[in-house]
Amino acid sequence: MDFGLSEEHLMIRDAARDFAKQELLPGVVERDNKQEFPTEQVKKMGELGFLGMMVDPKYGGGGMDTLSYAIVVEELSKVDASCSVIVSVNNSLVCYGIEAYGNEAQKQKYLTKLVTGESIGAFCLSEPEAGSDATSQKTTAIDMGDHYILNGTKNWITNGNSADYYLVIAQTDKEKGHRGINAFIVEKTWDGFEVGPKEDKLGIRGSDTHTLNFNDVKVPKENRIGEDGFGFKFAMKTLSGGRIGIAAQALGIAGGAYEMARDYSKIRKSFGTEICNHQGVAFKLADMHNEIEAARYLVYKSAWDKDNGHNYDMSSAMAKLKASKVAMEVSVEAVQIHGGNGFVKEYHVERMMRDAKITQIYEGTSEIQKIVISRGLLRD
Ligand code: CAA
Repeated sequence: MDFGLSEEHLMIRDAARDFAKQELLPGVVERDNKQEFPTEQVKKMGELGFLGMMVDPKYGGGGMDTLSYAIVVEELSKVDASCSVIVSVNNSLVCYGIEAYGNEAQKQKYLTKLVTGESIGAFCLSEPEAGSDATSQKTTAIDMGDHYILNGTKNWITNGNSADYYLVIAQTDKEKGHRGINAFIVEKTWDGFEVGPKEDKLGIRGSDTHTLNFNDVKVPKENRIGEDGFGFKFAMKTLSGGRIGIAAQALGIAGGAYEMARDYSKIRKSFGTEICNHQGVAFKLADMHNEIEAARYLVYKSAWDKDNGHNYDMSSAMAKLKASKVAMEVSVEAVQIHGGNGFVKEYHVERMMRDAKITQIYEGTSEIQKIVISRGLLRD
């Protein structure tokens, strides 16, 4: 076993770390306050190659491994989890979904733009009544021969307004259950597509989360991904990789909150000494660090599984379950160590605590991850 990062991984980590400090940190509090999408920052991340990291260079991607991607998401998330979710969705749900399961024409038309940030992608599975229970799709796509007619509503869609291309999951044949579900690439400019209200959220307030409405949207048949009826498996397979991204995001939020608490404890004094000299604080730091390291091993192992051709359905669920719990617990402790200052926006940790919560919800709640893990354990 080799627990060390390669020279290449260290370089990409340092590049993401520098970028986060120089480009994401300034303005992160204001963007959170105003719910402002980080347009300039996303443009720069596109230029740096952070939006299509794992895509084959022949489509303009970085050709990097999943571990490099997880490291970048982790580093960005230490500073700004709103930016990192945009990176995560674009890379591991949209780019990966099209590259792994789309046809050549779809890759040439869409992937080449998504990798540079010229266009942004969104992944549309959740509905008012189909969040965890993803087979209960109410959005319909009726087969009209050379095209489908799409009708329905999608909820809580990351990059909802900022995206140009949307991977939309819809029911084409109710009788067939999950085998009657398909996935389509839908363009924002198409007639009948409407971006609905923006959500006013607890956390990741810089990312734009919207309801989307599809009213008789005409989708050419060539925009279906894979064979007829592949849509549910497409969503499940793609989400397994997406969960590595969200696990890395959670890991980064935990790491960022821990580092802030550690540094603050070395300068803040009480009872005549820096607070890190009080065992009550030092032991908190020890526990936080320990949990983050444990989460990191699960996150990197899951990325390693994907890079080495192993099944990563279970390991990505394990990584997300653990890392999101750690993000929540560590960020709460980081606020506690900051005391009154922790409750104030300029000290960042209260934002991290708010941002941490979503990592236990999106791309499968913690309870869904337990379903995936337990089914994996009990499979014959
Ligand atoms: N890979 C391939 N196939 C898979 C699969 C996987 N990982 N998981 C399930 N399947 C297949 C099954 O084998 C089965 O196919 P067969 O009948 O041919 O064997 C079919 O899919 C149905 O599977 P299940 O019977 O297990 O389905 P289920 O109804 O019990 O649900 C579930 C399984 C794991 C709970 C699933 O519904 C799920 O993952 N739910 C959570 C959805 C989710 O993560 N939503 C997040 C929204 S996206 C988001 O948040 C993006 C964002 O913007 C940030």
